[in-house]
Parts: sequence; structure tokens; C-alpha cells
Amino acid sequence: MDLNSKIDTKNLPEHIAIIMDGNGRWAKQKGKLRIFGHENGAKAVKKVVEAYAEIGVKNLTLYAFSTENWNRPKLEVQTLMKLLILSLKKEIKTLHDNDIKLNAIGNLKALPTMVYRELMDVIEITKNNGNRTLTLALSYGSREELINAVKQISIKVKNNIISPEKIDESVINEHLYTRNLPEVDLLIRTGGEKRISNFLLWQIAYTELYFTNVFWPDFTKQHLQEAIVDYQKRERRFGKTSEQLS
Ligand code: IPE
Ligand code: IPE
Ligand code: MG
Repeated sequence: MDLNSKIDTKNLPEHIAIIMDGNGRWAKQKGKLRIFGHENGAKAVKKVVEAYAEIGVKNLTLYAFSTENWNRPKLEVQTLMKLLILSLKKEIKTLHDNDIKLNAIGNLKALPTMVYRELMDVIEITKNNGNRTLTLALSYGSREELINAVKQISIKVKNNIISPEKIDESVINEHLYTRNLPEVDLLIRTGGEKRISNFLLWQIAYTELYFTNVFWPDFTKQHLQEAIVDYQKRERRFGKTSEQLS
């Protein structure tokens, strides 16, 4: 079923972020290895990327690999990295066809050289696509991001580039990986867990949260539409009263 008619195109979230969780359990349910789940997770990424573009959302950020995920078994990490290279190569056309610019956040230097190079290549190749941004969070950890921001700001204070009194929200924002992205309006987590797992801690202060039990490889355009419909039913008050908003 296409829920397009239920979506108010004037009230679309400008930026959706997704914690793509449940690949391993999806595979286990089918009696397969975890990696089979990741392969099918990559297929879901392609579909959801096409879907967000079609729906008309401008920014999508996908949590693909966390700083904590480095602690998984070596073979799983290696296979995930290989899959990432393959998907990047394969989906350049999808990005072009949908006028999407690729972007990445995280400690990218920690990625294997091959992954890093491929990522930079695709970012370069798609940089003139104007309409939409797809951000991959890779080797991303929100606490690490905040620690880096504090370090950079401290150095600037020490060198008299900023005075401590001038440190405000915008200064913090400018020192995060997400500095060029708009606020996240909607955060979706698939796979049934109700936690944030070190993703965008500062950035989601006023984000609408949406949790679904659907495992990531089963997540489709329709599920994305359902999340948007749910989002559009909510009243975002930002601390004010309902009366103040109308
Ligand atoms: C999400 O699926 C993908 C990554 C974290 C890379 P998982 O691999 O975490 O799948 P589950 O949560 O074990 O089912
Ligand atoms: C969060 O999923 C990270 C990504 C989806 C990339 P995890 O599966 O790593 O999260 P936890 O460990 O269950 O919290
Ligand atoms: Mg998981």
C-alpha cells in the first residue's frame, strides 16, 4: 500500500535519521549467518534511499557503524567493511539518479584505507548533486564527537580565538560533525530496541523519536511513510503550550 496520499507534503521532516538495527536477529530468525542479515540490510538501504527522495525529504542520516561496533568479532567487522565498499561502488548510480549528495560523519580516519578512499571518492563524485543529502554515520560515536568538540573549543579558548563567555549552542554546533546539517526532526530506530546507542546525543534534544519492531532488512518505503504519518500527527511544542502555537 502506498501511503503517499496520507502524507502532508507541506509538513515533511526536513531531516530524518535512522538507527538501522536488527540485521543479525533477522538472519538468525531465518537460520542464517549474521552477515546474510547485513547483506539484506544493504538492500534495504538502497530502497529507503530511493523512498526518501521520492517522498521529498531533503536529508537522511543513516547510522551504519558505531564506535562500539569495532568491538564485534573481527570477521563480522571485516565483512561489514567489505560490504560497505561494495555498496558504495554499486550505488553511485542510485545517488545520481535521485540527485543525492553523499556525506559522512564519524571518526572516518579510523576506517580501513580502502573504505575511506571509496567513501571520499563517492562524496567527490556526488558533490554537485544539489537537492538532497545522504549522510552515513560511520565509526560514529556521539560521546567521541562531543569530546572532540570540547577539545577543539578549548584550544581556541587557549589561543584567544574565542572567549569562554561566547560559548553558546551555536559554537557547540559548529564543532560537531553535523555542523552543515539541519536539525534532525525525526529519529527512527528499527529492530525493537528502545535506546539511542550513542547516536546524535546533543542533536536529538528536540527530535521526535519513533521506534518500530521491524528488523532493518524488512524496512520498506511503506514503513518510512508510516513513520512520517505518525510524525505529522504530533504537536512539537518546544516547551511552549499548545495555545501558544496556534
Ligand atoms: C545493525 O544490525 C547493523 C549494525 C550495527 C552494523 P545488528 O547487526 O546490530 O543486528 P542485531 O541487533 O544483532 O539484530
Ligand atoms: C546501533 O546498533 C548502531 C548501528 C545501528 C550502527 P547496535 O546493534 O550496535 O546497538 P546496541 O549495541 O544493541 O545498543
Ligand atoms: Mg543491533
